[in-house]
Amino acid sequence: MILSGKAKIAGVMGWPVGHSRSPRLHGYWLNQYGIDGAYIPLPVSPDRFSAALAGLAAAGFRGVNVTVPHKEQAYAACTVLDDHAKRIGAVNTITFDEGGGILGSNTDAFGFIENIRQDAEWDGGISVVLGAGGAARAICVALIDAGSAEIRIVNRTIGRAEKLAREFGPLIRVIDWDNRSDALSEASILVNSTSLGMTGQAPLDLDLGALPREAIVNDIVYAPLETDLLAAARARGNPVVDGLGMLLHQARPGFEAWFGERPDVTQDLRQFVLNS
Ligand code: ATR
Repeated sequence: MILSGKAKIAGVMGWPVGHSRSPRLHGYWLNQYGIDGAYIPLPVSPDRFSAALAGLAAAGFRGVNVTVPHKEQAYAACTVLDDHAKRIGAVNTITFDEGGGILGSNTDAFGFIENIRQDAEWDGGISVVLGAGGAARAICVALIDAGSAEIRIVNRTIGRAEKLAREFGPLIRVIDWDNRSDALSEASILVNSTSLGMTGQAPLDLDLGALPREAIVNDIVYAPLETDLLAAARARGNPVVDGLGMLLHQARPGFEAWFGERPDVTQDLRQFVLNS
């Protein structure tokens, strides 16, 4: 694509950034809509984050995504934060406005719930979340806003789960990692937000016996796409939602803000991103 002098430019800042699938994802949509624009991988070391952000705004970028390890620095650097960024405590999507403002949002909660809704039907009830890291925070915000009656947080380091309970209030119940299999009783959704089960990581050791068969099972791990958790859940008849869709859906609000079109997540896009 040959850019004009008026091209809309955005990108993703990370360190490293070479593994990011966002350029491929946004590139697909730019091509689909025939937009005069570009989305660029931006390797930025943590000590240069502030300088890079100011430079991008000065250079006329529409905005940027920020990924590991910049999400907390981005939070501190923004002049305006949306509700989800404030509650999650991290920013993954930045838009520069013409008055010099730096608008920070977090689209991970949106990405999570849109992914669930695209592939399954969920009406609230008891949620079980494995893990209490950054991804779990976004998932809790999504589950609270979608009307979960109770969220059981099961984490190896109990103090991190307790911190989530203090911040997110009485809907959160903290459960010891050793009791993770028992925690599944009466649940309507189970989400693995840990790195367990990812290629190269330890397996997730979980007995699904207590989980109701109509409960949705979702893994935010998407490499492999069909994790052992999803395979075991599928084999016993549970509806399953894989983790790739969260990555794809979280990108939609940024694309719309920078490039002016609200894109869809299709099977063709999934395949295109998987082929990278
Ligand atoms: P992210 O931002 O992707 O959520 P993170 O903040 O590093 O990443 O969180 C990783 C999650 O995986 C944590 O809940 C972590 O548990 P701890 O809080 O106890 O560290 C969990 N995790 C990683 N390796 C694990 C393991 N071997 N057993 C149990 N939980 C593990």
